[in-house]
Amino acid sequence: MTNAVDASRLTFRDVTSADEAVVKDLLEAAFPSDMEARLVHKLRHCGALVLEQVAVDDEGNVQGHVAYSRVTPAAIGRAQGLQVACLAPVSVWPQSQRTGIGSALIRASLEKLKKIGEDLVLVLGPPSYYPRFGFDPVLARKVQGPYAGDAFMALALTEAGRRDLPIEVAFATPFEEFE
Ligand SMILES: CC(C)(COP(=O)(O)OP(=O)(O)OC[C@H]1O[C@@H](n2cnc3c(N)ncnc32)[C@H](O)[C@@H]1OP(=O)(O)O)[C@@H](O)C(=O)NCCC(=O)NCCS
Repeated sequence: MTNAVDASRLTFRDVTSADEAVVKDLLEAAFPSDMEARLVHKLRHCGALVLEQVAVDDEGNVQGHVAYSRVTPAAIGRAQGLQVACLAPVSVWPQSQRTGIGSALIRASLEKLKKIGEDLVLVLGPPSYYPRFGFDPVLARKVQGPYAGDAFMALALTEAGRRDLPIEVAFATPFEEFE
């Protein structure tokens, strides 16, 4: 694999079972341990994934991966009806990082999430990266759960996602080993 991938020519599609082996390799290459690969495996097999997409180049090679899992709102008033998802993890092959692939994949997958009716997306990650997609640590202060601080950010995809807060949330069970 070379680092000459043109991010503007990528296509974005849902993961199929045929992608699982390369996605595992990608996750193990992008992160220091196999924790994220195991997380994705567990999220898939406990039915917690809301959306899982890959960025694919002209030759059909997987260049990036992103997963969104279901977040369960606790019953506080109107927030109970919100569709909430968590972005984690996202990855690009080390030799192709910082060439726009991750950003293009995140933007495309957020569009898809909006289309399928998600109201609110949460992420825990670098405050220098996620605000460019609209993620906001101030909005996330209205989301109570195991995470807090500037690395915990929220993005409303609908009016309800911004309006029907505060909310208390629980993440999918496989995240417990990350807390
Ligand atoms: C994070 C990741 C998915 C971003 O994808 P990418 O294709 O490399 O990023 P893009 O080219 O779209 O965007 C580049 C920007 O992201 C920033 N960036 C990339 N990785 C970053 C990181 N780990 N922390 C903070 N900023 C990061 C770059 O500094 C650059 O910022 P700039 O535009 O202000 O110069 C990719 O770098 C990756 O797989 N990293 C290893 C795994 C990881 O850390 N995943 C995220 C966990 S929250």
